[in-house]
Formats: sequence, structure tokens, C-alpha cells
Amino acid sequence: MYFGVDYYPEHWPESRWETDAQMMQDAGINLVRLAEFAWSKMEPEDAVFDFSWLDRAMSVLAKVGIKIVLSTPSAAPPPWLWAKIPDIALVDERGRTRTYGSRREYSPTNVAYREHAVRIAQQMGLHYAGNTQVVGWQIDNEFGERCYAPGTRLEFQRWLKQRYGSLEALNECWGTCFWSQIYTDWSQVPVPVQLIHGQHNPSLQLDFSRFISDVYVEFQQLQVDALREICPPEQFITHNLMGFGYPTLNYFDLARTLDLVTWDNYPSGFWVKTPEIVPAPLALGSATMRGLKKKNFWVMEQQSGQGAWDILPPLTRPGEIALWAYQAIAHGADAIVFFRWRTCRFGTEQFWHGILDHDGQGRRRYTEVKQMGQDIARIGDLIAGSEVRAKTAIMLSYDSRFAFQFQKNNPDFLYEQHLTDYFSALHSANIPVDIVSSQDDLSSCDFLIVPALYITESETVKHLEAFVERGGTLIMTARSGVKDHTNIVVDLPLPGLLAPLCGVEVQEYDSLLTGQSRALRCVTSEIAQAGNATVWCDILKLITAKVLIQYDEDFYSGQPVVTLNKVGAGHVIYVGTMGDESFIKSIVTYGANLAGITGLMETPPRVEVMARWQGETRLLFVLNHANTAQQITLEADLIDLVSQQTQSGHVTLQPKQVMILSDITGKVS
Ligand code: GLA
Repeated sequence: MYFGVDYYPEHWPESRWETDAQMMQDAGINLVRLAEFAWSKMEPEDAVFDFSWLDRAMSVLAKVGIKIVLSTPSAAPPPWLWAKIPDIALVDERGRTRTYGSRREYSPTNVAYREHAVRIAQQMGLHYAGNTQVVGWQIDNEFGERCYAPGTRLEFQRWLKQRYGSLEALNECWGTCFWSQIYTDWSQVPVPVQLIHGQHNPSLQLDFSRFISDVYVEFQQLQVDALREICPPEQFITHNLMGFGYPTLNYFDLARTLDLVTWDNYPSGFWVKTPEIVPAPLALGSATMRGLKKKNFWVMEQQSGQGAWDILPPLTRPGEIALWAYQAIAHGADAIVFFRWRTCRFGTEQFWHGILDHDGQGRRRYTEVKQMGQDIARIGDLIAGSEVRAKTAIMLSYDSRFAFQFQKNNPDFLYEQHLTDYFSALHSANIPVDIVSSQDDLSSCDFLIVPALYITESETVKHLEAFVERGGTLIMTARSGVKDHTNIVVDLPLPGLLAPLCGVEVQEYDSLLTGQSRALRCVTSEIAQAGNATVWCDILKLITAKVLIQYDEDFYSGQPVVTLNKVGAGHVIYVGTMGDESFIKSIVTYGANLAGITGLMETPPRVEVMARWQGETRLLFVLNHANTAQQITLEADLIDLVSQQTQSGHVTLQPKQVMILSDITGKVS
């Protein structure tokens, strides 16, 4: 199993490299990612290439047996390239042209920039294709920003032309007769730069989001193709994605031609608003990454210290580095690469703490990584390649996710949060979850949750029908079936194309004010606690479904809000509100029971359990995210591969402790 670090030798004197390599080896590090952002070191002048420093750094690492992932540097074009290409800059959603000074400021459609990005990738490929120390390539860094530059606008118009064929078709699909927006020439079509007042046509906005996503897929592909042509197939090609976090790219598309998905996992930082790190969203990040290719993934940047540019967040607590890394492993990571080896003394990320401090010394964080490195050296090969097996899935629709970005429907509705709420309910019951796209094969799934499928295609409806017909349990939630592919509202009772499957029709809907809720009442004894309706209240008419929960407040008291429809051998639960935590928990518990799904283990809050399978051998990961000791109960004697001790009965986990329980010895090497 690879256990690595992101290393920037160019930030340190060469005289230090051997010490670094030795310290890495002592900590069990066997892989290093290099060269990300090092464009101006590898191509100091236009068409002048210098890999000598990188060769020297790699040979120092080779002496201690460390393998390499090389990153193409296109996220950070050097100053000479900015001087050479006047329109290289990205223009943001407010129409502001990015200026030089940081990174990721390039326009992904700029042809000259693309040529230079491909050229440096090719040069790296030519230099390192035959080097067996190199196991893989990373393209660029964390794609994501939408660009509204003039060149991008031209590309958008071309993309639309290809998609719609004629302006008549586009005008029809977008409904441009509204407010006199009928286009008579492709050049008139704008990019949706934020308006000073008002809002763009939602159809234009959705297509633009799809287009930008395609732009990055295409840009990535140029580099993938360049490297593929030169490098042997043993060298994998990846990109470092951002878990569930980045909302602007269709990651299913981005991952399609990559050999491997990798992601950057930063649990703690100034963006965390809760006093304690909540584990479910982190698990969702890993589950999403596993879902993209239905394969195990790597963490290419795993947090190893406090991360900050200017404002420092709280200190990473003892045990957290390994806890977060093992959590990713529990959800399907086959390698962990820590960001970064040593905290840099200069540049924007001076306070982004790595394993070593600024002074190059290894203190608590180094000791913790070293401990994990020793454990991974012993048990890693038992873990790598083992698989997560889930019978429960959540459907992630990028079309719906994009469309909600410019029409929230309710000030408190956030698609990402809604999906996370359902994931969290499953997570707290220790039910393994796959994240699937609307096209994915559902044959191994028994329980499927489809949150707010706002944009609904008839193909997806057929797919869902087939899933239910053959016995699946499906949960659909409010704001599903509202729009067609072009983001116009359907000419049908809601939930539109999904109404026959759900067996209900929405009569009216109430959009609640912040903080408001509506009391609910269970109609079936199979649901213990109704919880409260929040955010959105569909008032439903039963067609073929029966009511499970009804409103108990307001003029729609007594009307259905949650219903059950029997279809073929399966069931569809329609949930007409977003709902509070206890509501979602009840719905998920009810659905899981119907589907015959049980959690891996009952645990106290903040103790997470996941399983990976190596053939018939189960590795049970038990992770205590709490700041206090917690107890679990085991039904059989199991060996904890981490501590190498047998555990049985009531078992206490110390704060942040991880156990990997199995009935095997764990002796690999
Ligand atoms: C990321 C980037 C890294 C580094 C870290 C810390 O996600 O990929 O290059 O900037 O964040 O900020």
C-alpha cells in the first residue's frame, strides 16, 4: 500500500534533500508527489526545459526506495507566459478579470495557454516515460472555476450550436420569447455574468454550467492524451478532485477517462463552523470519489496539520491525522498521500502546516504519521484492493445540483445539504453507501435515495422504474420532477414524469420562512417519530400511494406529506418536505427496514463503522471521532490489526482511536 507525502524539493536547499528522504523512509513513506506548480522551474523560459533539479531530487528519493507521482504544472502558469499571452486570464462570474499573483487564474478555453500546458506535459512525459520510479501522473490541480472570458463566450456559442443545431431549436428550448430574448445570431448569446439586477434565463445558466464542466473535461483530456501517447500504461493518470465539495464540475464526466480517482481531503480549517469536526461529510467525500469509477481511490492530499493562508484554524488534535486517513481508507482509499511534507517558509501557504514544521523538525505530527506508517507497512497490503460492499445508494445529479445554484427555490434549501442530510442519517446507522449517477447500474443496490431530482429525464425515470419493479426500495424527495432537460418547468402535475412511479400528485406547495417548521403526525405505527417538516411542504393528493405521515399543522393539517407506493416487487416512498434531523432519521430507518438493510453495528454517536472485504474476509473499521472514550460491543472475538490485540465483548475506544477488526492474524510481511 502506498503511504506518501506531497513534497516540494524546489522549496528547500538541495543540501536538505537527503535528510528529508531519510526522515521519510523512517516514517514509512514510500511515495512522493512532485512538481505540482513547478512550471517556472521546469520551463524557466519559453521552450527552455530544465528537469535536472527534478532528476536530482528523484534520485535522492530513489535511494530510499520512494516511488513518484508527477504532477503537470498547468495550474500555475509562470510570469513569462502571462506576459506572452495577453488574454490568458480567467474572467469570473462578476465579470472581473483575474490578475496574476496566485494560481488557477487561467482561462481554460484559451488556445495559446492550452498549447503551452500540453507542451510542458509532453516534455515531462518524454523525460520521464521510461523511468520506472514514476508510477503515475496527476493532471493540473483541483479544476473548478467557471470562466466568463470573451474567448470562453465564443466557445460557449460553438458548444450550443453543436448541441442545438439551429437557433430556432435553442430559442424554443430556452423559451427566449420571454422578455424579448429571441436570438437571431449565435454571437448574441451571452455568458451568464452576474447581472447588476435581475437574473439570467435558467436554461442559459444550466447549459453554461454543463458547458464549463465539459471545458475542463476537454482540457484535462488534452493532457491525458499527450501523456498517454508517450507514457507506458503502468503509469496511471489521475487528477486530484475535491470530494463532494466542488459544485461546478460533473465529476462523473471528469473521472471517465482517468485511470484512477484521487482527492484532497481537508477535514479541518477555517471553513469548519462546528466546534467538533463532523465525520459524515468527510465520509461522503470519500464515498463520492469511490462512486465516480465504482473503484477504490487514493487520497492525493490528506491533511496533516493546521491549514491556513492568513488566519489560523484550531490545532489538529492528537490522533486526528491517522483517524482522518483511516476514515478515507475505510471508505475505499487504497493509498494516502499527506499534504505536505514540510511547512513552507515562504509564499501564500506559509501557514499551511505539513508533517514537519518550518524548521524542518519532526514533532508530534511526524511521530503520529510515523506510527501510522509502521502500521500500514504491516497491514497495508491486507487492506489495499479490498472492496467496500454497499447495498444502499444515493443518486447524485449534477444537472440538478447546477440548476439549484441559480434557483434555490427556498432561501434555506441547499441541494448539497439535503443530500448530506440523507447520507448522514445512513452514516449514523453505519450503513455503507454508494454514490451513483443517474446512469449507473443499480443491480447490486436494494435501497436507493434520490434527493431532489429537480431536472428529470425520461431515461432516468425508466431506470428508476426498473429498479423498483425488480424489488428495490426508492426514496424520492420534494422538488423532484420539476424541470426537463433544458431547465424549463414540466407541463404536468408534480412530481412530473415521476408522479406515476410515486403514486401522488402535488396539489400545492408551501415554501417556509427561515426557522419555521410544521408539525407532523405518523399515520403508520411503523414510523416511531414523525419529526417536523422544514423548508418546503408539498401538499399531496394520493393517486395510488398510501399515506405514511401527514401534516398536523396549518391549513393543510391532515394532508399527506410522506407516502408509500407499491410498484412491482418494490416500493417508492415520496417525501414532500426537507425535514429536520429526526424526520430524516425516521424516513431512512423506515426505508432501510423495507429494503432489508441493517447497519454494520450499533454505536454511540461519533463512532463510525465501515467494512472492506478482501474476498470473504471482512475488515471492520471502527473509528472514534469523539473527544471522549467510547464503548462498543462485539459479538465475537476479533483481532484489532492496528494494536494487534484481540478484542471481545465491551470494547473501549480512546478519543480518536481507530481499530481495524478482523478474524485474521494481520501478519502480512
Ligand atoms: C489544496 C491544493 C494544494 C494546497 C492545499 C492547501 O487543496 O491542492 O496545492 O494549496 O490545498 O491549501
